[in-house]
Amino acid sequence: MTSAARRTGMAGMAAAAAAMLVAAVVGWVAWRNVAGQEPVQPRGAGPESTADAALAQRGAYLARAGNCQGCHTRRGGAPNAGGRAIATPFGAVYSSNLTPDDDTGLGRWSASEFWRAMHHGRSRDGRLLVPAFPYPNFTRITREDSDALFAWLRTLPPVREPQRAHELRFPYNLQPALAVWRALYFTPGVFVPEPGRSAAYNRGSYLVNGIAHCMACHAPRNALGATREGPGEAAAAQGSLVSAQNWYAPSLSSADEAGVAHWNGDEVVALLRTGVAPRGWVMGPMAEVVFRSTQHLNERDLRAIAEYLRALPQVAARATVPQRGRMGEQSGRRTEAFAAGAKVYEKHCAACHGGRGEGADGYLALAGNRAVTMASPHNVIKAIRDGGFAPTTLGNPQPMGMPPFHGVLGDEEIAAVASFIRQAWGHGAAPVQALDVLRAR
Ligand code: HEC
Ligand code: HEC
Ligand code: HEC
Repeated sequence: MTSAARRTGMAGMAAAAAAMLVAAVVGWVAWRNVAGQEPVQPRGAGPESTADAALAQRGAYLARAGNCQGCHTRRGGAPNAGGRAIATPFGAVYSSNLTPDDDTGLGRWSASEFWRAMHHGRSRDGRLLVPAFPYPNFTRITREDSDALFAWLRTLPPVREPQRAHELRFPYNLQPALAVWRALYFTPGVFVPEPGRSAAYNRGSYLVNGIAHCMACHAPRNALGATREGPGEAAAAQGSLVSAQNWYAPSLSSADEAGVAHWNGDEVVALLRTGVAPRGWVMGPMAEVVFRSTQHLNERDLRAIAEYLRALPQVAARATVPQRGRMGEQSGRRTEAFAAGAKVYEKHCAACHGGRGEGADGYLALAGNRAVTMASPHNVIKAIRDGGFAPTTLGNPQPMGMPPFHGVLGDEEIAAVASFIRQAWGHGAAPVQALDVLRAR
């Protein structure tokens, strides 16, 4: 054989090896996307227990626990008829119509096709669904709960509302890209109770990790938007930026953030039922969770969630921003900034939050408040810029509100007052820069 022929032969072998590797990867991706799927039964082929009123009632409860309506209703649209844009780092996606309309909703779906969507993230026509639909969490729910949800959805009035096309950027708009993502990061599987744990703990884990999809916000995500599954649940509960909203969902495994291991059960139940608790008020996306979802849960389920959250292993919070040093102490410039922040505070904030941050007239205290001193400054900036109300709940029917300050204070002033409250009253959190405020828009 000449050396040229040998070279072509080698090249041929390398090409064949590469082709085999590609085939193996494609095969693995394809297998990961169908593994464990039973064949679906079309509507009418199997028994459908959807006419059962008790089942539908249970479904209505689960739909609240899962806040289906929050994502599946556009502003001004019919409840659950879809069309709401959900911002993701990869572009906007639009929720689907869940009402039983034959052409644009779930009218022609069977319970088994619905189960495949909830458990495997596939639409009726086999299309892979984007994980902005939290099926990586919903996959944990049981078939019975899926059937109950479906039975409830079938009792809704059918609404005609065609699916809007997603606006995902290339390559995230491609089904093969989604197939690869799923192969890497999505494993379908119903919740398995942990042996040796109480029934309440396991119920709490089922709700938090499954239907209530708390971890869809509170678990950290990698650059491809997958929640990181680390060693144990502690890693899965480490806190994360809520995609494209600039709210930080703090870690449920850290006392410095949203961990509640050091709270008592009543305090956790109060937070989830009324939105206000002795040691924390909810705001932003969490206020919506309480408003639409957790305030409607029964006492037993709230106690179960509290038991599970209080038992989560605690880890030190990740420092999400480098400590830039305390501003009140060092150079003269920093002392000036501290004084400027104090002035803004005195003028615009003290009437409600108290001269020493202690909280006036039932308003919440900022002194000793972990939401103020958390490493991530995102929520403090959001609160000051956009203001907000605690959620309206049965237990707190007339919540107190905070006005937005973005029209009143400039970025510099917001940064100064945010830095002030993070460093006054014995706090030692890093200051906030005007650039951080600009980025939060
Ligand atoms: C965080 C937002 C969010 C929540 C909460 C949510 N969904 Fe969705 N859902 C979506 C989005 C976005 C889609 C569209 C996915 C796609 O087209 O790839 C979707 C799609 C679906 C589909 C597939 C419909 C189809 O035509 O293929 C079903 C079924 C569904 N959701 C049911 C539910 C149920 C039941 C709940 C409550 C238990 C729920 N969803 C809660 C965002 C959400
Ligand atoms: C849509 C995203 C999202 C979902 C879903 C979500 N959270 Fe949150 N959560 C947040 C954000 C953002 C904050 C920070 C703002 C605040 O403190 O209210 C937060 C704060 C919290 C806090 C700390 C409150 C305080 O004042 O110390 C707890 C506890 C909590 N969440 C528990 C839960 C539980 C339990 C669930 C599921 C039932 C859940 N969250 C679902 C986004 C979310
Ligand atoms: C009219 C009364 C009022 C004024 C004035 C006011 N706040 Fe608030 N503030 C509130 C209320 C009420 C909340 C809780 C809002 C919620 O739950 O969404 C709050 C929440 C906050 C939070 C979030 C704390 C947490 O635990 O989640 C911060 C930070 C904050 N305020 C800072 C400020 C600063 C800084 C100013 C001045 C620039 C200010 N507030 C002015 C009433 C006020």
